[in-house]
Amino acid sequence: MSQHDVEAERSRLALQRPDLLREAAYVDGAWVQGATTIAVLNPATGRTLGAVPNLGGAEADRATAAAAAALPAWRARSAKERGAILRRWSDLMLAHKRDLARLMTAEQGKPLAEAEGEVAYAASFFEWFGEEGKRAYGSVIPGHQADKRLVVLRQAVGVVGAITPWNFPSAMITRKVGPALAAGCTVVLKPSELTPFSALALAVLGEEAGVPAGVFNIVTGAPAPIGEVLTGDPRIAKFTFTGSTAVGKRLAAACMGTVKRVSLELGGNAPFLVFDDADLDAAVEGAMVSKFRNTGQTCVCANRFLVQARVYDEFAERLAAKAKALVVGDGLEGPTGQGPLINAAAVEKMARHVADARAAGAKVLTGAEALGGQGQTFYAPTVLAGVTAEALLNREETFGPLAGLIRFETEAEAVAIANDTRAGLAAYLFTRDLDRSWRVSEGLEYGMVGLNSGLVSTEVAPFGGVKESGFGREGAAEGLDEYLSTKLVHAAIRG
Ligand code: SIN
Repeated sequence: MSQHDVEAERSRLALQRPDLLREAAYVDGAWVQGATTIAVLNPATGRTLGAVPNLGGAEADRATAAAAAALPAWRARSAKERGAILRRWSDLMLAHKRDLARLMTAEQGKPLAEAEGEVAYAASFFEWFGEEGKRAYGSVIPGHQADKRLVVLRQAVGVVGAITPWNFPSAMITRKVGPALAAGCTVVLKPSELTPFSALALAVLGEEAGVPAGVFNIVTGAPAPIGEVLTGDPRIAKFTFTGSTAVGKRLAAACMGTVKRVSLELGGNAPFLVFDDADLDAAVEGAMVSKFRNTGQTCVCANRFLVQARVYDEFAERLAAKAKALVVGDGLEGPTGQGPLINAAAVEKMARHVADARAAGAKVLTGAEALGGQGQTFYAPTVLAGVTAEALLNREETFGPLAGLIRFETEAEAVAIANDTRAGLAAYLFTRDLDRSWRVSEGLEYGMVGLNSGLVSTEVAPFGGVKESGFGREGAAEGLDEYLSTKLVHAAIRG
C-alpha cells in the first residue's frame, strides 16, 4: 500500500488532535522507533492505517530498567498525589473521547458509539482507582503475647508487566494500569499489535496528566520476545494478562521461573439461560447486549444459549428479528450496530462453527454469511435454532456474532449443561422466580453471574473468572489487591 493510500485512510479519522496518533513506542518518557515496523490495518476496509515499531527483547529490557528506576520515587509519593494524576488522566481521556473513539473504531472496528462507551469505561478505571488507592488499608492485630505488636502493611508489589488484547484496546489497559499506578507500582505494557494506537494515545495523555517518565512504558511489537522479558525478568514482580486460555497457560508457566505474582483474565464460554418464567423482553434485550456487544468479541459474550422449551420458539423468533435489524458496517462511515471482525481468521472461525451446527441439523433463523468485499471481515449477525450442546460453537468460544440456541426442559438439566465446560468467566440467567434466581446463581460455576442482566462489567465490581478462565480480579477493591503485597511488621517492645 502506498503512503498516499495510508494518508487517505488516516484522513478519514478527522482527528481534532492528530498528535494522538503515534507511530512510536513509549519508553522512559521518550518516543522510540525501531529498525522494522508492524502495519496496523483497519478491519473495516482492509487498508493500512499506519505502523508501529516492531520492538523485541532489548527494548522490553530497557523499558523494564526504566520502570524499575522509576519505582522508588513513584511508590514514595502519597496515594493522594498518585490519585490526582490518575484523575487528570481520566479527565483528559473524557475530554478527547471523540478522537480516542475514532482511533479505536479505525483500528479495532467496533461501532463508534461502542468505542465512545469504551473510552468512558476505560477512563472510569483511572478515576476509580485514583480514589481507591487512598484506601490501601493494612491492619493492626492484637499481639499474641503482651510484648508484641503486629502491624500489617500493604505495599506496592513493584514493577508490573502487562499484556493486553485487541478487543478492548483502552479499557483492558486502564483496568490494569489504573490499580497498578494507584498502588505505587510502575508498568511495562505490551498492547496487542493489532490495536496499538489506542494504547499509544493513552501514553500521550498520560504524559500531559503528569505521569513521570518510566512509570508507564509501552513496548510495541510481536508478542514472543517481549513476553519472554515480561514473564522472565526478575525485576518484574507481577505479571498480568488478558487473552486466550492457551496463551495464558504458557505465560503463567513462564512466570513461575521467577515466582511472580500473576493474574489472568482468560477465555470464557458463557451460558445464557432463559427460563420459561423470564421477562422475555428483558431476556431478548439482555441477549442482544451480551451476544452482540463488540460484534461478539468479548470474553464475557454469551456463547451458549439455553432456552426452556415453553418459550424457546418465541425467544428464538424475537432474538432473530433483533439480530437481523442490526446495521453492519464501517463505524467511521455512519451509525452502525455491528462492526467487522478483527481479521480473516475470525471470519473463518464463524463460518466453521456455523457449518458444523448446520451439518448437525441446526436451522438458520438469520445471518450465516460473510459480508463485504476483498480484505473486509464483516459477518452477518447470526441466530441458529436447534443447536446441540455438543456443537463446536458450544464447546469453543466463537468470539463472533453467532447465537446458537439449545432447548432444555428442566432447571437441573440447564445448570448441568451450563457447568459442563472448563471455562468459568461469566454466566447469565433470566427468570422471575426468586428462589430459582438464588439457586441457579449459586449453582453456576462462574466468576460472574448476570441475573436478569446481559452486562456484568463496571469499574466498581470485581471482574474475573474461575476454572480455566483465570484467577485474580480486575475492578473494585479486589482489583487494587492484585497490585499490593502484604507485609507483617512483628515488633517486640521492651518495658
Ligand atoms: C473482555 O472481553 O475481556 C472484557 C469485557 C468487559 O470488560 O466487559
